[in-house]
Parts: sequence; structure tokens; C-alpha cells
Amino acid sequence: MDSKREIETLIRSKYPILYVVSYEERRVELALQSIATTLSRTLHTWSLTQGMKPVLGSGAKSTLSPELEALAQVYEAPDGTIVMLRDFHHYMRDPRVLRLLRDIAARLREKKTSLILTGSPLELHPDIEKDVSLLNFPLPDGDEIGKLLDTAYGSLPEEIRSKIELTADNRERIVKSAQGLTINEVEAVLARSIVESKTFDPGVIQKEKEQVVRKSGVLQYFQPDSSLSDVGGMNILKDWLNQRTGNFTDAAREFGIPAPKGILMLGVQGCGKSLTAKAIASLWNLPMLRLDVGSIFGQYVGQSEMQMRKALATAEAISPCILWVDELEKAFAGTRNSGDSGASSRVFATFLTWMQEKKSPVFIVATGNDVSALPPELLRKGRFDEIFFIDLPEQKEREDIFRIHIGKRKRDPKKYKLKVLAEKSEGFNGAEIETCVLAALQRAFFEKRELTQADLAAEVEACVPLSVMMAEDISALRDWASMRARSAG
Ligand SMILES: Nc1ncnc2c1ncn2[C@@H]1O[C@H](COP(=O)(O)OP(=O)(O)OP(=O)(O)O)[C@@H](O)[C@H]1O
Ligand SMILES: [Mg+2]
Repeated sequence: MDSKREIETLIRSKYPILYVVSYEERRVELALQSIATTLSRTLHTWSLTQGMKPVLGSGAKSTLSPELEALAQVYEAPDGTIVMLRDFHHYMRDPRVLRLLRDIAARLREKKTSLILTGSPLELHPDIEKDVSLLNFPLPDGDEIGKLLDTAYGSLPEEIRSKIELTADNRERIVKSAQGLTINEVEAVLARSIVESKTFDPGVIQKEKEQVVRKSGVLQYFQPDSSLSDVGGMNILKDWLNQRTGNFTDAAREFGIPAPKGILMLGVQGCGKSLTAKAIASLWNLPMLRLDVGSIFGQYVGQSEMQMRKALATAEAISPCILWVDELEKAFAGTRNSGDSGASSRVFATFLTWMQEKKSPVFIVATGNDVSALPPELLRKGRFDEIFFIDLPEQKEREDIFRIHIGKRKRDPKKYKLKVLAEKSEGFNGAEIETCVLAALQRAFFEKRELTQADLAAEVEACVPLSVMMAEDISALRDWASMRARSAG
């Protein structure tokens, strides 16, 4: 477990103050407890409601405010103490707190005492930047989940336990199915699985995990319901994706290939961006999570960043996986003209930094159609592996799309003159072609006969494509894309 070891190392090296960012206080506390035992120190924890436990110092009533009193106790703490103060982000702007922290830092450097602050992510005040080490505490990894599983297994009643076979293979599948959850959640899903199926069933655990992830409101599991063969045209993009199918394997890593970072698909409405995003998940056979940025913006200052971090940490823990950010420009609208006191800019910055630094194989699929609303930082080289421009389909591609949608409606596409339909539907997007096929089918059904070429041709004739009304927008988008993006088809 890396972050625990990191904390231990910092404590051993007499780093006086650590600020640990985590949404699992209990886990940080457990880690500290175990570190304290290893190093023969005593752990004290403090929160506004509970005060210091166990009591540190005389325990006498004080006239100071609780957080200052807690800090004063740390200042006076005997050698060999570790103190954890909870929710300290609330106090990190108070000049008295800042001053006291600096005093504590200077004093603790000579002692075997460490102060651990926990709370939401925050930017450290420049005054104390040098005195406080900031670190992240990610979600439990496979090893930790394995330990929880062993504990849960060990505490089962004999008659249930004797029926469960924990082979190495089985164990790995269970652990994998629980990855992406906090410790509390892992314990809960393991218990739930026992209740439901009298065993640790990876299927049940996965289902539960999907529930938990959904409840967070920010991430959503997506069952891919389309494959690349459902997407017409876009041959360049398809080749690009096909060539990278094996890139998430260990073999690719050993060969020296880094995990793909992600793609951005920009383009005209209704041309299959969202469709392709879903198809990638089936092509690569990876779980797909959709990031709903809109729901991230919480009510309280700092909460939205926390939500974003949590979502990204969950994706990392579930990796290899695909993280889908649909309609990117809406997601991060307002980052250019900050109307919401900078919350969206900060969330966006969190996302950008993460994209830059992420090591785990989370493949980002971002889609959007209004490039003018996208912050330029996002488009800088290196954030995405490639930026694809999805244009209106050309003749051949329209034929393809007609073939797909006629085929999907249980008709043999060979019976229709697709070339003619494609010629007549210049300027149509994929969604409009699909609509034509459906409308033609509706007409035939109503007239109680089979679908004919004439039905299809009539619908194509009647449709005025969006591209006619939006000609200016589309040509601006094309100009933009010709400089910066690769064509998908
Ligand atoms: N290239 C295509 N091949 C097959 N079907 C397509 C294609 N493009 C669009 N469609 C059909 O149109 C529907 C809508 O497309 P989709 O939602 O993927 O468009 P989009 O590019 O994401 O549009 P928007 O920018 O409005 O989000 C798809 O579900 C599919 O049925
Ligand atoms: Mg879409």
C-alpha cells in the first residue's frame, strides 16, 4: 500500500506536518494507527465534535477556540505522539491557525511527533507551503481489498465458509469486482453478497458496485450497446481504434507501449460521436464510466473539486476502463467566463492536471461540437493521443449508414438502391439518415405492405437536413478542424 508507506516514511523522516487528502477518513485513521504501532507511538485524533481522543495534555478547560486549542495541545505534545486533526480545510485560512502551524512545524522538527491534517483538497497558503507536505490517499488497491476479503472470509460462520472455495483465480475475480470502492463500501458489498448468494459472487459484487458508483451521482456505469460495426464511415478513426485494441495488456507494456491516454472527438451534431464512444468500450472490452460533470457542482465551496477527485480516483481504481465525458463544452461551460465564483475553473483545472499526470490506464473519450467554448488548454498537444474531427458523412459513408440502419430493421440492404439514396441525401447526418429509414418503415407498416425504395426516397426528399440551417456553424467548425484535428473518415 503506497500511500501508507509514504506517510510512514515522511513520519520517520520527521516531516512535521502532513496534509492528507482523502474521502475515507477512517482508512487514513487505520493507516495511522498501524504506523503508530509500528513506530511505537501513540495516536490521538481530533474533530470539532469529538474533541481530542484520547485526551492530550492536562485536559483543562481552555478559552481558546477548539481548533486553536487542538493545535496548542499538539505544540505541547510529548515526544512520540501522532495527532490527526479532521476537517482541517475549514481552518486553513485563519491567520492564527497559519501562525500556529508554522510554530508547530519548527518545534516538531526536533521531536518525534507528527501532525496529520485531513480534509478536502485545498491550495496551501504560501505562508505554510514549505512546512506542510500535501499528499493524496487513493482508494484501496487490490492488495488491501484482498486483505479485507480474507478478513471477511475468516469471520464467516463455519457452515457458510466451508462451502466457499477461495482459489487464487476466484479470489482475483472477487478483488477486481470490488475495485473502485472505499473500504466501507467493500465491506458492505462483501456482506451483501454473502446474504444474497451465500458466497462471494463477483457478479453480485459488480452489480453492487455499479449501484454505489451510481449513487455518487457523478459517475455512471454504461453497458455498451453498440459496436464499431454499428458505426458507418469513419474509417480512419476505426483503424486507429482497431490498432490499439491490445494496448491495455501487460504484453503491450512489456513491449514498451504506454497505455493510450484518450481521444477527443469533435464534430457536427448527429454524426455518431456518442455512438462511437460507446462502441469503443465494446471493441476494447473495457468497463465504461460516464462522467457527468454537471452533477459535480455541489453547493459548498470546495465540494465540487472533492467530487471530481473522487470520481477520478474511482475511475483509476476501476482501470483499465474508459471514462466518457460527453458534450465536453457543456460540461466545462463557464470556465472561460467565470460566472460561478471560479468553481468550474477549479474543477476543470483538477481534471486537466489529472489528465496530465495520470499513470493508470484510464482512457478518456471526450466528445463535443462547439469548439469555441472549449478552453485552449484542453486542446494542447499531449493531453489527448489524438483529436478527431467527425464531419458530415460523404457519399460512401452515407451508403454505409443506410446499410446499417436498414439492416438493423431486419431488412436486407441489398434489396435497396443505397447508392441512389446516398446521392439524394447529401448534407444529411447519421441521425437524419436513421430517421428517414424509420419514417419510411412507419409509412410501409401503416399501409400494410413491405418497405420499398420509394418509401425511403420519399423520406429523403422530404427531409431538410440540419446542415442547411447551420451551414455557417459547420463551415466555421471545418475551418477550425482543418488546422487542429485529424479527419475521422
Ligand atoms: N456514422 C453513423 N453510423 C451509424 N449511425 C449513425 C451515425 N451517426 C449517427 N448515427 C445515428 O444517429 C444517432 C445519433 O448519433 P450520436 O448521438 O452518436 O450523434 P452525436 O455525434 O453524438 O451528436 P451530438 O453532437 O448531437 O451529441 C445514433 O444513435 C445513430 O443511430
Ligand atoms: Mg452526442
